[in-house]
Amino acid sequence: MNEPIISLEKVSKTYPVPDDKDGLKVLKGISLSVEKSQTVAVTGPSGSGKTTLLNMMSGLDLPTEGKITIAGQELTCMFPDDLPLFRNRNLGFVFQSHCLLPQCTVIENVLLPSIVEEREGRDAVLDRARKLLERVGLERKINTFPGKLSGGECQRVAVVRALINQPKIIMADEPTGSLDNATAILLAKLLIELNEELGTTLVVVTHSDLVADLMKLKFKLADGKLNI
Ligand SMILES: Nc1ncnc2c1ncn2[C@@H]1O[C@H](COP(=O)(O)OP(=O)(O)OP(=O)(O)O)[C@@H](O)[C@H]1O
Ligand SMILES: [Mg+2]
Repeated sequence: MNEPIISLEKVSKTYPVPDDKDGLKVLKGISLSVEKSQTVAVTGPSGSGKTTLLNMMSGLDLPTEGKITIAGQELTCMFPDDLPLFRNRNLGFVFQSHCLLPQCTVIENVLLPSIVEEREGRDAVLDRARKLLERVGLERKINTFPGKLSGGECQRVAVVRALINQPKIIMADEPTGSLDNATAILLAKLLIELNEELGTTLVVVTHSDLVADLMKLKFKLADGKLNI
């Protein structure tokens, strides 16, 4: 059997809480193994720990206990200084709150992950950025600043930014939360197309059954555990 591209072994996360020595136990011994090119949906009630789980999986935060391996690299024993470059090379991450840079235009935001490492010519990246923005209906907004975009438009820019480096894995935290059903499906289908064309592994946190149904594996987070 191939080595999984994402592996979690007994991962727990407890946030410290003032005046409570036990803290807030959000994740309780989660184990998960995801094969390359798999598509995964994680659903669950608000506050159940979906963002916490995605932050652990992507190395944005460390678990209290357990081991996380992504693309052959154990995140939980990496030097913190090596993590950003590793993430930029292997992962596209869509933040629930978009996290666009307000001082950069749409196209500049999208190109940001590509300027850290010059792996291919500028023209090729720029061409891909334009085509992706076109696919999500933003071709007329490329020189607009995020402050002048709607929430849903910001969300689409955040998704395109996560795709620009054609990463092995895309982790998306509610990538369609601010979108109407039709646009949500369009965006989710773009992710699925990339999965089919490039073998990109997808992990999508969502409250939308329509989006979750497009993924092959579906998990529900509840009481700190991940259930099928
Ligand atoms: N940095 C933090 N410090 C302390 N508690 C936190 C922190 N981040 C999240 N929490 C708490 O952990 C729990 C899970 O939060 P999380 O953001 O992971 O939920 P979620 O499932 O993504 O919710 P939503 O669907 O609303 O986005 C919540 O009770 C939240 O208040
Ligand atoms: Mg969340």
